Amino acid sequence: MKPSIFITRKIPEIAVQMLREQCEVEMWDKEDIPVPVEILREKVKTVDGLYCMLSDSINKEMMEEAQNLKVISNLAVGYNNIDIQAASEKGIMVTNTPGVLNEATADLTFSLLMATARRIPEASDFVRNGEWKSWSPMLLTGQDVFGATIGIIGMGRIGEAVARRAKGFNMNILYHNRSRKEQAEKELGATYVSLEELLAKSDFVVLLAPFTEETKNLIAKKELEQMKETSILINVARGGMVNESDLYDALVQKKIWAAGLDVFEQEPVPLDHPLLTLPNVVVLPHIGSASIKTRITMSEVAASNMLQALNGQVPSDLVNTNILTR
Ligand code: GLV
Ligand code: GLV
Repeated sequence: MKPSIFITRKIPEIAVQMLREQCEVEMWDKEDIPVPVEILREKVKTVDGLYCMLSDSINKEMMEEAQNLKVISNLAVGYNNIDIQAASEKGIMVTNTPGVLNEATADLTFSLLMATARRIPEASDFVRNGEWKSWSPMLLTGQDVFGATIGIIGMGRIGEAVARRAKGFNMNILYHNRSRKEQAEKELGATYVSLEELLAKSDFVVLLAPFTEETKNLIAKKELEQMKETSILINVARGGMVNESDLYDALVQKKIWAAGLDVFEQEPVPLDHPLLTLPNVVVLPHIGSASIKTRITMSEVAASNMLQALNGQVPSDLVNTNILTR
């Protein structure tokens, strides 16, 4: 009998085909609407493999009800939406899609950084709204990117890809990470500093660390107060790393200059969220890795991890490697 899998959203056809060759595939085939949690729960009870999105919360209760589940393949590099400990306890493999999205995510990070620094969305609205009456010397002036200091929090593969772009902009590169990255220091001229020093010296503070208990609320009132008044916060990691109400206060009180956010505590961000009322906040709908080519590749990588696990192999991108020794 072929293993059965459930895919929680419409994914690129090429990945569906890969899976159909070896599995009984069921797919929630709506592109824009997440699978209702009751349906997800029902599917998880019986399938051998779950192919899910970062927007699906896969919790302990769900996994406890699972009778055959061997693998959860997440279509993302981050996997904070899955209770990893509960999965490991049940011997369920969890996989992610690292590596293939580094450059696309770094491109988006830099786009957001530049759009925020030079007020691109605001300037575009200014033209469309008929507010452009004359050229004026200080009209819509922003912050320099070239030659500025960038502080990268989380120097993983995406952080390094951002640093390579920063180098091309002649930026002074600071970073903070759990461990020193000697290679990045040598190749990119990045300097390891404490979080305090990074916050105090950076013109751009860029969050790229994984979301864990350690990085939850990493940037709150105290940290925002350590930043320069001309500085810009860029979050392309996970919303929960920034205290949003403290960020709102810091922006209103001009403790920092602007923020560019691709991620939020609650996604989709509610339309009445106070941050959306501020002109110096540039917002995006969690599109870090969203290039056509990258998303197709990610969907194939997630399919391949799923098939490896179901064929009794160790998947290339196994997250909870501790289960191998059990
Ligand atoms: C996107 O946020 C990802 O984790 O891949
Ligand atoms: C992602 O792959 C990272 O290590 O930052």
